[in-house]
Amino acid sequence: MAAAHKTGVYRAVLTGASGGIGAAIAKRLAPQCALLILVGRQRTALEALAESLRACDVQIVCGDLCEQHTLSAIAATVRAAGGIDLLVNNAGVSSFHAFETQDPADIRTQIETNLLAPMLLTRELLPLLGTAPAAQVVNIGSVFGSLGFPGFAAYGAAKAGLAGFSQALRRECADSTVAVRHFSPRATRTAINSAAVNAMNRELRTAEDTPDAVADAFMAFLSGTSATHTLGTAERFFVLVNKLVPGIPDKAIRKQLLQIRKYLPR
Ligand SMILES: NC(=O)c1ccc[n+]([C@@H]2O[C@H](COP(=O)([O-])OP(=O)(O)OC[C@H]3O[C@@H](n4cnc5c(N)ncnc54)[C@H](OP(=O)(O)O)[C@@H]3O)[C@@H](O)[C@H]2O)c1
Repeated sequence: MAAAHKTGVYRAVLTGASGGIGAAIAKRLAPQCALLILVGRQRTALEALAESLRACDVQIVCGDLCEQHTLSAIAATVRAAGGIDLLVNNAGVSSFHAFETQDPADIRTQIETNLLAPMLLTRELLPLLGTAPAAQVVNIGSVFGSLGFPGFAAYGAAKAGLAGFSQALRRECADSTVAVRHFSPRATRTAINSAAVNAMNRELRTAEDTPDAVADAFMAFLSGTSATHTLGTAERFFVLVNKLVPGIPDKAIRKQLLQIRKYLPR
């Protein structure tokens, strides 16, 4: 039954390991791992991180997750290592732009990196995860996947898709040993956010977390059993209101639109 999560020693794949949240998760996860496979595009950053994680067998797969050969290389590394019981789909990109003038290539990158790549990697690794007595896939979403926000139409669409994928696959795998879970950070101080986004967040007084705080919350989520978690009490409330009475956030965000447009690249 998928609901039985294993705590203790993981054999894990972590994507986006070289990023702000990914590196903070890697540091906390490594002491609880027998094997940790770090995935990213920047070899030097991954090697430096691996060097700092001496607690377990750390391996690196360097490549673009939007390319099939990277997914195949991850699967081959997992097979050679004897299997995994945890996949964390954390890699992501974000682009803040007026949708009508957003470059179609940028829109594709948002969907491919934030939605298609984690779906295809999960598909690639599911048979391997399925052989573990208890395994989990954790998809890293975003509050913007549950609460549409101006300037993030493509990013929000991809993250909403990831939430839908996580829910459907969780139900599909409910009679297996693989639990599929979804963890949504709110704004976090990492390089994913442009200077414009940071300036807008300051003006709108948007609550922001540090990557360390997100990673602490992630580790607590990992050792628990809930299927989904959204960071921030206020954000969880807004997401609920948005689901039940979307007209309320429509009006609240409409009032902020002039301020948002000041920062929105066109
Ligand atoms: N920061 C926030 O405000 C925030 C809020 C909500 C949700 N999130 C989510 O949290 C996750 C981590 O984001 P972050 O804030 O830590 O961002 P970050 O610091 O920019 O890190 C992003 C990571 O994703 C990797 N990545 C991006 N595109 C890739 C590709 N095509 N192939 C392989 N790796 C790729 C990057 O690897 P390389 O550097 O090696 O290219 C990097 O390790 C993302 O899914 C993001 O959407 C972030």
